[in-house]
Amino acid sequence: MTKFYVTSPIYYVNDVPHIGHAYTTIAADTLARYHRLKGDATYFLTGTDEHGQNIARAADRHGETVEDYTDRIAAKFKALWSQLDISYDDFIRTTEPRHIEGALKFWEKLLASGDVYRDTYAGWYCQFCEAFYDESELLPGNLDPVHKRPAEWVEESNYFFRLSAYQTRLQHLIENTGFVQPETRRREILGVLRQGLRDFSISRQHVRWGIPIPGSPDEVFYVWVDALSNYITALDYAHDSELYHKFWPGNHLVGKDIIRFHCLYWPAMLMAAGEPIPEQVFAHGYITKDGEKLSKTTGNIIDPVALTEEWGADPVRYFFMKQPFGSDWNYTDEAFIRAYNADLADQLGNLLNRTVSMVMRYYAGQVPAPGLEEPVDTVLVDVARGLRLQVDHAMEHFAPHEAIGAIWELVSAANKYVDDTEPWNLAKARKEAGEAGKQADARLATVLYNLVESLRLIAIYISPLMPTKARGLTEQLGITLDNHDDWEHMRQFGGYPAGSQIKPGAVLFPKKD
Ligand code: MSP
Repeated sequence: MTKFYVTSPIYYVNDVPHIGHAYTTIAADTLARYHRLKGDATYFLTGTDEHGQNIARAADRHGETVEDYTDRIAAKFKALWSQLDISYDDFIRTTEPRHIEGALKFWEKLLASGDVYRDTYAGWYCQFCEAFYDESELLPGNLDPVHKRPAEWVEESNYFFRLSAYQTRLQHLIENTGFVQPETRRREILGVLRQGLRDFSISRQHVRWGIPIPGSPDEVFYVWVDALSNYITALDYAHDSELYHKFWPGNHLVGKDIIRFHCLYWPAMLMAAGEPIPEQVFAHGYITKDGEKLSKTTGNIIDPVALTEEWGADPVRYFFMKQPFGSDWNYTDEAFIRAYNADLADQLGNLLNRTVSMVMRYYAGQVPAPGLEEPVDTVLVDVARGLRLQVDHAMEHFAPHEAIGAIWELVSAANKYVDDTEPWNLAKARKEAGEAGKQADARLATVLYNLVESLRLIAIYISPLMPTKARGLTEQLGITLDNHDDWEHMRQFGGYPAGSQIKPGAVLFPKKD
């Protein structure tokens, strides 16, 4: 059996969840649901990154203990994930004992590698990024390039990881394999490699809120070492568990801002620890709104909670997954409403309505077995049959937007098929006596069967994207999608059991202004 392990980043709890978090998590969920549907042993991990100065400071600001504060914000992430129908298998928090235990085991392995040494670190440190910068990376006035706040000059004794020793191996990995996706990000990482890798410090003395380093009471893990190890600690790495051996290595979905950590630091540390490196790191792009960067200070935000309350989880999931994954893209309310009305209400919703009402009217709701075939059927059936390869390819390549494109080709082909075959005329003609009436009846049966069958396939393929709407659709078709044991069989054209009774239900996507 094929296995699929997918992770989202673990999110900082220094603020409530925002749309960027929702975006990565929806994508990971869509992939996880697709792999479950096809019968792969699937594991989907998300969670929260709870250590570091920023988080201690945020708790202070709210007048809460850091424990209460992190509990409260972690709960907000969980609430949003349930609102968005996120089917994670595990949610890890870096403050949990199981994580700390696993991270300590990882730490011991790093120490044992011989690639950790003690040195003095001096550099420009941004407490908001929890990162050191080269002088050349700072903006005028020694401002950090991300938050544009003054960086501090910090000197302290730290543990260092000898990243430079992994230069050749990382170069080989990134040049010769599909480890980093998409291609733009691979090139970016190759650019970083070309400049030569430098060792980095993996402990902090001036940070209090973190995992204490054994034998060095005044020092904690560098937050990124702590955080990255979540991908294995959640699999009970601490106890060398079956879960770990079954699912590791996995696939990391991340935003483009955190690829250095995932594509360089993380695999190198895993190599040092003697553990397998990830299968792939896929980086998606950044969302802007109305052409501007998202920013709480300017108020240019997309609130995932409000958006989901207004539209429901599925349309939100659909819209975000429709955007080119891997590229930057711009959000506007107009585009959202347009996609909802055009793709969901007009195209898909309407196809279902038309089909269901015709089966009701012409066959009292009982889907007929196909009768006479004509060339026009082939056009539709070919599109439907072609879908399987297209969707598989798209999903294997982390391109849910391409899967959507392919699925909607079938939706439009089916709508066009209604217009081309004019079932209402066939219904009239079948009342005629003799051969002509019989022929029209056999044609009508084929047309309606093909429409119902197309909708069944559409329901299968949209189910990872819009699980609730897919269920609504299959309920109206009088079937369930629960039988996943034979994925290839389940999606063969002709799988709809003729003679089944359809059950007209509520409008799937009520049109909105
Ligand atoms: N805690 C680290 C990740 C550790 S993983 C071992 C972190 N957390 S974060 O809370 O800042 O959220 C990170 C995710 O949100 C990233 O994948 C990032 O790319 C994503 N986004 C933040 N703003 C975004 C946009 N404007 N658009 C799309 N995604 C963005 O980094």
